[in-house]
Amino acid sequence: MPVLDRDASKDSGGRDALPKLPVPNLKDTLDRYLSCMKHLLTEEQFNKTQNIVTQFGAPGGVGELLQSKLTERSENMANWVYDYWLNDMYLNNRLALPVNSSPAMVFPQQNFKAPIDSLRFAAHLISGVLEYKTHLDDRNLPADYARGQLAGTRLCMEQYYRLFTSYRLPGPERDTLVAQESSVMPEPEHIIVACKNQFFVLDVMINFRQLNQRDLLTQLEKIVKMADNEEEQLPPIGLLTSDGRTEWAESRSVLMRESTNRDSLDMIERCLCLVCLDDASGPELSDTTRAMLMLHGGGLTKNGGNRWYDKPMQFIVGADGCCGVVCEHSAFEGIVLVQCTEYLLKCMIGSPSKLVRAASVSELPAPRRLRWKCTPEIHKLITSAADKLQRMVKNLDMSVHKFHDYGKEFIKKQKMSPDAYIQVALQLGFYRCQGRPVSTYESASLRRFQQGRVDNIRSATPEAFAFVKAMTEGKNSTSDTEKMELLKGAITAQTSYTRLAITGMAIDNHLLGLRELAHEMKMGKLEMFKDEAYLISNQFILSTSQVPTTVEMFCCYGPVVPNGYGACYNPQSDHIIFSVSSFHDSQQTCSAEFVKCLVQGLRDIRDLCNKCNADCAATEERKDQKTAIFSLCCLHQFLCLLYQYCVPIHLLKKQSILL
Ligand code: COA
Repeated sequence: MPVLDRDASKDSGGRDALPKLPVPNLKDTLDRYLSCMKHLLTEEQFNKTQNIVTQFGAPGGVGELLQSKLTERSENMANWVYDYWLNDMYLNNRLALPVNSSPAMVFPQQNFKAPIDSLRFAAHLISGVLEYKTHLDDRNLPADYARGQLAGTRLCMEQYYRLFTSYRLPGPERDTLVAQESSVMPEPEHIIVACKNQFFVLDVMINFRQLNQRDLLTQLEKIVKMADNEEEQLPPIGLLTSDGRTEWAESRSVLMRESTNRDSLDMIERCLCLVCLDDASGPELSDTTRAMLMLHGGGLTKNGGNRWYDKPMQFIVGADGCCGVVCEHSAFEGIVLVQCTEYLLKCMIGSPSKLVRAASVSELPAPRRLRWKCTPEIHKLITSAADKLQRMVKNLDMSVHKFHDYGKEFIKKQKMSPDAYIQVALQLGFYRCQGRPVSTYESASLRRFQQGRVDNIRSATPEAFAFVKAMTEGKNSTSDTEKMELLKGAITAQTSYTRLAITGMAIDNHLLGLRELAHEMKMGKLEMFKDEAYLISNQFILSTSQVPTTVEMFCCYGPVVPNGYGACYNPQSDHIIFSVSSFHDSQQTCSAEFVKCLVQGLRDIRDLCNKCNADCAATEERKDQKTAIFSLCCLHQFLCLLYQYCVPIHLLKKQSILL
């Protein structure tokens, strides 16, 4: 069993120990909003926005009224922003989950020599999941503590308990995040195994006994045989879950007319997780290809139908060794996903010899294939979903790059925060590509607070803008010393914003809270939130996130706007992994080009640091030399004096002795 190698103190489950998310001061947020936006707007836009914001924040005005209501709300709730944020970020979003919303972790490429190897891997993985679930059920997961900035604070553990118990139910206007409440007599647990677009119920408890790895292997072998039986093949229903959320909600209600379908949906919605046994996808399995396959399955012609996107955890085990996990994001953040998958990977990859060799000999009832009654209407809906997924597959422009020149140790040696440094490099890379700064999102964890999720670090700071302009202007217009000062300013600004965000003082959640309250209070759409600047502020052309790992794997996700980039990074001691995504059909983006500019930016910043360090060292050396010369001169003078005074005395003494 792998070690849950975090702090030994267990998660008490009690929220009381954590503070509540504070409500920032209204004036601070409005001032910060203006300073975040000024350089992203034209002068005219900014002047208009400044007036709107001043009116909104005027004494006795709408802003103050909303602020007092928000304070009231925060007193009555564990977390005043949780519902607003969940709806805004995920549940109201009507876009299809693959690429647009669900991130993926890409495992190291596996070397399966025979088909049975992938099943052994899957059996091992499932048994790890069952072990992990036991820790969750016993509430004995070690508590997480913050690292990096403001390290040491205890973190909220709630997201872990949604890993294997939640489901995102599609709705016509808004989805629902359903959490299974644990009942007094827990139901027997099962996993859904997807194979060749068919879904099978794999009971993990049979006759009050949890299946061991050998049993699991036996059951998986049976599933593969059943899936191969062409006569029994059913349509690829899973494709419906890759459709837009409103479309899927409609298709689901059509499916629900048949009791067979209702039973099948119920089994999927209540399962622990999915394990997707994928067919081999093609000859080339670069990091970039594997990332794309995790995000969308390769469409109908590959494994796109072998998915059920509403379920938070879908493990993918490809016959060609392309493995990973794709997640429905509304239930938890990437960091929690990493902790769980690292546990599983340490269990499997760390001890391959423990992989089960032979199948079980015990008689087990065969896993059950889920049945679907498909009317012509359903067939049409599947075809339409498949077409849209295919377009998505063609449209995704992905580039995964391992930057090997240096990693976070070099950055720490510069006495800079690695995260802030990488963010400034992303700003530089983007500015090189497009010659303008844009609204940028960086996720900042709020898990220091009860029910904490994330807020936004607005990394396109005015200080970063000043630095990137200086770095990209014609040669010699700014000296290296000045550039270095600008770099330090940008890093300091980024680090301060990070500290604000992780202590609950950032602006995005606050503005969202005020906006939603105004909506609840039926105030109509306020100028403040109708303003073009507010819309621009929420168009995250750069959507970035640090997802660090301690096991060899990386995270990836898609862009959040049609003309934007998704940029996920995983800083390691001596290298950094970047997963950059965009859409081919945008004229403004190209992932490979952005990666190229980013790499150049990272090299330029390193060279600047090295040059300034060398200059500093040379200045220090010159100072040292001057000090040494000065000391020698002093010594010389001292010796001269000594000679002048002491020698005659000495001679006198000598003479007196002689006398
Ligand atoms: N000099 C030397 N070292 C420094 C330094 C400095 N000036 N500033 C920071 N460091 C060190 C830190 O001590 C830390 O050391 P460690 O690796 O030994 O722990 C390391 O550099 C990293 O710190 P930093 O780069 O500042 O980042 P961080 O770890 O504090 O992370 C965030 C910053 C914003 C990414 C983090 O707070 C966060 O919120 N993470 C969650 C992101 C998330 O939710 N992602 C998933 C979204 S789905």
